[in-house]
Amino acid sequence: MKPGVRVCVPSAAVLGLFCRGCLSRWRSWPGRSFSSTSREMSRWNSQDTSPPSPQENVRVLITGGLGQLGVGLAQMLRKQYGRDNVILSDIKKPPPHVYANGPFVYADVLDYKHLRELIVNNRVTWLVHYSALLSAVGEANVALARKINITGLHNVLDLALENCLRLFVPSTIGAFGPSSPRDPAPDLCVQRPRTIYGVSKVHGELMGEYLHHKYGLDFRCLRYPGVISSNTPPGGGTTDYAVQIFHDALSTGHHECYLRPDTRLPMMHISDCHRATVEFMQAPECQLSLRTYNIAAMSFTPEEVAQEIRKHLPHLKVTYNPDTVRQTIADSWPVRFDDTNARRDWGWAPAFGLEELVSDMLRSIRDKRTSEGLPVS
Ligand SMILES: NC(=O)c1ccc[n+]([C@@H]2O[C@H](COP(=O)([O-])OP(=O)(O)OC[C@H]3O[C@@H](n4cnc5c(N)ncnc54)[C@H](O)[C@@H]3O)[C@@H](O)[C@H]2O)c1
Repeated sequence: MKPGVRVCVPSAAVLGLFCRGCLSRWRSWPGRSFSSTSREMSRWNSQDTSPPSPQENVRVLITGGLGQLGVGLAQMLRKQYGRDNVILSDIKKPPPHVYANGPFVYADVLDYKHLRELIVNNRVTWLVHYSALLSAVGEANVALARKINITGLHNVLDLALENCLRLFVPSTIGAFGPSSPRDPAPDLCVQRPRTIYGVSKVHGELMGEYLHHKYGLDFRCLRYPGVISSNTPPGGGTTDYAVQIFHDALSTGHHECYLRPDTRLPMMHISDCHRATVEFMQAPECQLSLRTYNIAAMSFTPEEVAQEIRKHLPHLKVTYNPDTVRQTIADSWPVRFDDTNARRDWGWAPAFGLEELVSDMLRSIRDKRTSEGLPVS
């Protein structure tokens, strides 16, 4: 057992069968007027006295699953819970390889009734809520970001409560602002973000924790750093440069960076991000002293990542042309995360540092370009 990890006795709630007190308490939740169908559904659940094993019981729905993070997470979860027990959903058409690799359904998080139908018909037990407009895209379309990130989240929270789901909603370094401690940012501190993305994420953290404390919702939230992946493109965040620089290094050999060379931000390899999510979802409830945790792996500046890439590709040229919107956002974010609580409570530990990340990204992108017949610089 990892040091500091508390021992606890598994209960039905711990095994994800239903959340503590949820069945008796959700009816008093004033947020949504429930139909008789949902009431019958819940009664049926509470009378089910022969629950299947936790392995059999886990049925995951991932919203916004066709972005940077969803497909890889589905892959990891399918290895553990079976291909058909992990359903990807989005409002976009899936590429052929995604469609061929497991269940995919259309789901708009703004359509509450359809989302409920999917959850009920598929006997979903875990919901991973990935739909969102990210920081830079959100600032360019505040009304849409508010709708997807806040109204969509409310739909998901209500459905999770109504159906006793274990709910995972990621938060971000963007949930902090200029008045937060930046080096490091602890789990609990002042959070006054200045983007609609950050505001919506703080709202999500607080609503989820409120529903957990008041109604027993099994809400779980990790604040992800900027996530770096080779196979899936980033979705319009402020840390996107840290993916693009690898593609540019291997194609043209030149990257123009929209941040200043000394802008330090917390980052993480995508496989660490997926593993953290799965481990956190599997952690017994009694090990969680918090419902929202920071997770950290490394922090670097554009110049530092460029230097590390130059160890493999000495010709890489980086020029800097700071974009006012993204630079202002980055300047208000933490430069480092304190993830002591995640390490202590559920044993979080990253596998990738900067050196490993750079080697892996260059190897993967080089292999991909070669297999597609593209030149490699
Ligand atoms: N990628 C990162 O670096 C990072 C860092 C911190 C937190 N996060 C969080 O992780 C989650 C996933 O991030 P990502 O990078 O995969 O995002 P992404 O932008 O790449 O993907 C988001 C997905 O949501 C979908 N979507 C948009 N509107 C929708 C709607 N109405 N209904 C259903 N789906 C809709 C989009 O089609 C898209 O596929 C987000 O909540 C994000 O805030 C990501």
